[in-house]
Amino acid sequence: MKPYFGAFVLMACGLISGCFLFKSSHHLKDQKIKIAFVGSLTGDTASFSKNTLKGIELALKEAKKDGIQIELIVKNNGGNPETAVHNMNELVTDNNIMAILGEVSSGMSLTIAPIAQRAQIPMITPTSTNPRVTEVGDYIFRICFIDPFQGYVMAKFAREHLKVDKVAVLKDRKSDYSKGLASFFTKTFEDLSGHIVMDEVYNTGDRDFKIQLEQIRKTQPEAVFLPGYYRDVALIARQARIMGIQAYFLGGDGWDSDQLFEIGREAVNGSYFSNHFTVESNNENVQQFVKAYRETYHLNPDGLSARGYDATNILITAMKNTKELTRKSLRDELAKINNFPGATGNTSINSHRNAKKPAVVLKVEGPANRYITTIAPE
Ligand code: PHE
Repeated sequence: MKPYFGAFVLMACGLISGCFLFKSSHHLKDQKIKIAFVGSLTGDTASFSKNTLKGIELALKEAKKDGIQIELIVKNNGGNPETAVHNMNELVTDNNIMAILGEVSSGMSLTIAPIAQRAQIPMITPTSTNPRVTEVGDYIFRICFIDPFQGYVMAKFAREHLKVDKVAVLKDRKSDYSKGLASFFTKTFEDLSGHIVMDEVYNTGDRDFKIQLEQIRKTQPEAVFLPGYYRDVALIARQARIMGIQAYFLGGDGWDSDQLFEIGREAVNGSYFSNHFTVESNNENVQQFVKAYRETYHLNPDGLSARGYDATNILITAMKNTKELTRKSLRDELAKINNFPGATGNTSINSHRNAKKPAVVLKVEGPANRYITTIAPE
């Protein structure tokens, strides 16, 4: 009886695109399934991984209620690439681990993806936006948009919504994410006839940005694009305001942390950044997630937790769609994900194993971020 029923469900699913209602999960019910999350749970950008993990754990808790027990192994690399490599080498040799969720930052994902690819274990990054990450190979997936799009979104927003013409860029030369996003922003901004009046660099963890900011101030930009992570950005914004720079500050998803306002205070107020998620969405799936997250953690979710949640549910959906759960069959099912309805909108995995989806632009207004607009891919 069981195999026939499974075959029927699979056939029905094959006929309905984006079928997530008819799930043949019986083959998962008495299995001991393990997955792993790799992240930087301590270190300079710890809030990213911590919130991603909260989203992952919420999704696993819900799966458990549905009778699917998944054990999560959590590996913290402390922001250290050598530790990340060591952790990854250890994880891939455990044959019971079916997939890796992570890393969060593009730099770390680029460091560990070749290990996942070589071992042929599916790796899904919920959040790494640099295009090179999934180019590592056919076992590497992401469920978020990529930086050429994010750069386009902020360039278009700066030109068409804020109507600025002169922009300075200050990027982190040690971050693949920051360098990539800066160049994609610059390209679209110039295509839209805007002017990049200064292009400056700093290094992750710097505390003093006066030299670069002095150069920037001289060019009198109307906006400064800061494609870095929240901590550096908040410190840059504070110094810039003290030095009398009154321009708008603009950035990308690396700003998505309550620490941005905690550290930056008045200096970051009124700034804009692109993101994957807003609690203000009236989409039913988003609101369901927001409600469940608040009930569990007594906190508002951010884009990281929403993507951790979606990545896990997408992984579980792919597991359900396999006939027999192996790393290879899981990879093949991940590649077929189409119109998955989640906390960050609908996700379809394209032939480059990326997700094409709209971005939102948020405005920093005190500790909360206000939704301004949605920009869809062209
Ligand atoms: N997109 C960032 C990167 O690729 C990671 C990130 C995502 C950081 C979301 C914050 C929020 O490195």
